[in-house]
Amino acid sequence: MATNLTMSERADALEAQQMQELGDRIVTKSILFNLADGDQSLGNGFAVGSGQQLLMGEDPRLPKMPEKPTLLDFFKLRFSPSQAHLLQSANLAQKNGLPEKMVLACLLHDIAVNGFIRSDHGYWGAQLIEPYVDEEVSWAIRMHQCLRFFPDESVGYKYPENYVRMFGENYQPEPYIKAEYERAQKHKWYMSARMICVNDLYSFDPDVVVEMGQFEDIIGRHFKQPKEGLGNDNTPSSHMWRTLIRPCNPL
Ligand SMILES: [Fe+2]
Ligand SMILES: [Fe+2]
Repeated sequence: MATNLTMSERADALEAQQMQELGDRIVTKSILFNLADGDQSLGNGFAVGSGQQLLMGEDPRLPKMPEKPTLLDFFKLRFSPSQAHLLQSANLAQKNGLPEKMVLACLLHDIAVNGFIRSDHGYWGAQLIEPYVDEEVSWAIRMHQCLRFFPDESVGYKYPENYVRMFGENYQPEPYIKAEYERAQKHKWYMSARMICVNDLYSFDPDVVVEMGQFEDIIGRHFKQPKEGLGNDNTPSSHMWRTLIRPCNPL
């Protein structure tokens, strides 16, 4: 594409190119995407009577996924490119001498924010990776959802200042979060989940650049990459990876 186009001309050109690749096919959206816009409709629904086909299978608007995608392929080709938070948290965990599997937990703790669904992100993230990691890793990721809201002075963890900014001074976590916190406190892996919070960095040092390559060996040792590729395997979360590959399949 020529470089002397304005931003809006470039956006128009990109849109035109994508329309061409889609052909006449109609893109359907899950109701979840519409609910996020305050809309309870099914959008185009099944486009009955339009005479057009629906987009089913590969989405030409998104980067092409390899046949046997790995975790790193998802990071590169599907997740938000803003991965500094995850990389910095894992880097800090490593500096603090945490065991490798907990470095992995820090690297993946917000995988749902970066790559799937933000609401209840600890639960979605844990579910996505559960079949491929040590049980303690997914448990800790699930529980950081609730522990984030409660201080633990024994390890110097305070209620995050940015939560006051983001949610207001009088924000109270939902009852299910409080109940989960009480259960988590009694669990043998409580401190593992707490360590995710301790290493959950919100203020980055802009001079420190952390690359994914730093963690590739740890991923190799502690994330059981299926040989068929994520989504082509047969685990309780394979369908979630497939949905990431083809998010607009109508069914
Ligand atoms: Fe989080
Ligand atoms: Fe985080």
